[in-house]
Amino acid sequence: IPVPSPPPALYPTWYAPQPASIFPNLSLPSGFIFGVATSAYQVEGATKMEGKGPTTWDWASRQPDFIQDNTTADVTDLQYYLYKEDAARVAAIGVTAHSFSISWARIFPFGVAGSPINQLGIDHYSDLIDYHWSVGVEPVVTLFHWDTPLALVAYYGGFTSPQIVDDFVKYTINIILMMIPPRYTFNEPSVYCGWVGSYPFTMADISLAPGVNSSTANYQCAYNLVKAHAGAVRAFRALNISGEIAYKNNDFIGTAWRSNSTQDAIAVERHAAFGIGLYADPIYTTGDWPDIVKETVPSDYLPRFTEEETKEIAGTADFFAIDAYASQYIAAPPNGIEACATNMSDPLWPNCNSVMLYDSNAGWAVGPSPDPASNSWLQATPQNLRGYLKELQTRWPTDKMFISEFGFDEPFENDRTEMYQITEDATTTNYFMTNLGEVLLAIHEDGIPLMGTFSWGMIDNAEWNYGLEPKFGIQHVNYSTLERTYKRAAYALCKSQHSPTITH
Ligand code: NOJ
Repeated sequence: IPVPSPPPALYPTWYAPQPASIFPNLSLPSGFIFGVATSAYQVEGATKMEGKGPTTWDWASRQPDFIQDNTTADVTDLQYYLYKEDAARVAAIGVTAHSFSISWARIFPFGVAGSPINQLGIDHYSDLIDYHWSVGVEPVVTLFHWDTPLALVAYYGGFTSPQIVDDFVKYTINIILMMIPPRYTFNEPSVYCGWVGSYPFTMADISLAPGVNSSTANYQCAYNLVKAHAGAVRAFRALNISGEIAYKNNDFIGTAWRSNSTQDAIAVERHAAFGIGLYADPIYTTGDWPDIVKETVPSDYLPRFTEEETKEIAGTADFFAIDAYASQYIAAPPNGIEACATNMSDPLWPNCNSVMLYDSNAGWAVGPSPDPASNSWLQATPQNLRGYLKELQTRWPTDKMFISEFGFDEPFENDRTEMYQITEDATTTNYFMTNLGEVLLAIHEDGIPLMGTFSWGMIDNAEWNYGLEPKFGIQHVNYSTLERTYKRAAYALCKSQHSPTITH
């Protein structure tokens, strides 16, 4: 499939100009949340301290070659102990919120069924929350960001088992009763159920607990996760605490590769239904799976909700949050969708819906990256952001939208010295500035009710299977001394918020 020629770059310079200099009449709405994000496994370290139980990732990261650079997150940023420094450092540069997650295994080391509540874990998160308030940074709590207590996988197969629903709801209730108000139940459900959960990736031994069939595991996970989310939100509402709750959606709708191709248009719809739609449709609209999914996936693959369940699931979100990274072109599979869809024996069957095409020229507006093909594997595309948000708003209309994550890992092919990483993260800086410009346009031109953005991440951290190598942080971390240093991106991002009239 030929690569189209790139559209004119919106921001053609190497070091990005501030959005304020490009759109002098546009500003962010007052009260706009300017946040940063992290997650427990990726920044806390201290994996065995104060009674924390093992998680799937503590286990998996010890398997040879499971993590690309063979690092574990046993220490990573040691934020478990350095949270005060980290909160203070972002407060100092004008950040108004920190989105982080609670590690379930710190609260119930062996899951709810297997252990009593660990008071040390509760005390830790209470202190962390209080400290954030004291420095003027709003704590934004996610209940679950992928680090499943290992015991739950060993007992019953984790999220492939209906037992997880009750356990997750009980965990949520305990967290709320301990005065820790959650804002998100799950982080990126389709990523979790798709590849990062207990299945079907290389953790075969533990993932395929008795009775777990790898070809249906993704769907069972989706089924249980949506029910766990709905149960947790209903408990949150029943306890009558103030605040709002939803999950951090992920994935994108995409654009048909060939504008005149019906097959590509169908592929876009199928990609949306099997990706973000699988999770967004139930909680924002019908309480049920998207029709396209129900029409094609038999119920022994994807269990159906009862009528009562759909009523309990519908409406269990108070706002729309999206982790907005890539938005790609979508084409029909080479042999056509029908040919693919009849092959139900393929466990990776959903991949038959569409082919995702990343166009490193058209989708991306950075300066001279050393090698465009080596740009972030996340394929973050700020120039598609407005279309992305508009699609979400059309499908799942909301009056409060948040970009709960956006970010880019700087490619440092040329020079990996510490000083270079701190001062020359030009591609990331450019990405953030471009994105911020698009956010301004989305709010003012498109009427998207965006109330805040959270940059990923607050600091460099452990990027799952990729280990410590990717550099997503707006702060550099020296992994020998754990010293943090603001990078150019932090400076640009903060300056654009707080001195809007000053330009480069
Ligand atoms: C989204 C995930 O929530 C986060 O854990 C991850 O590190 C970032 N994307 C970057 O890949």
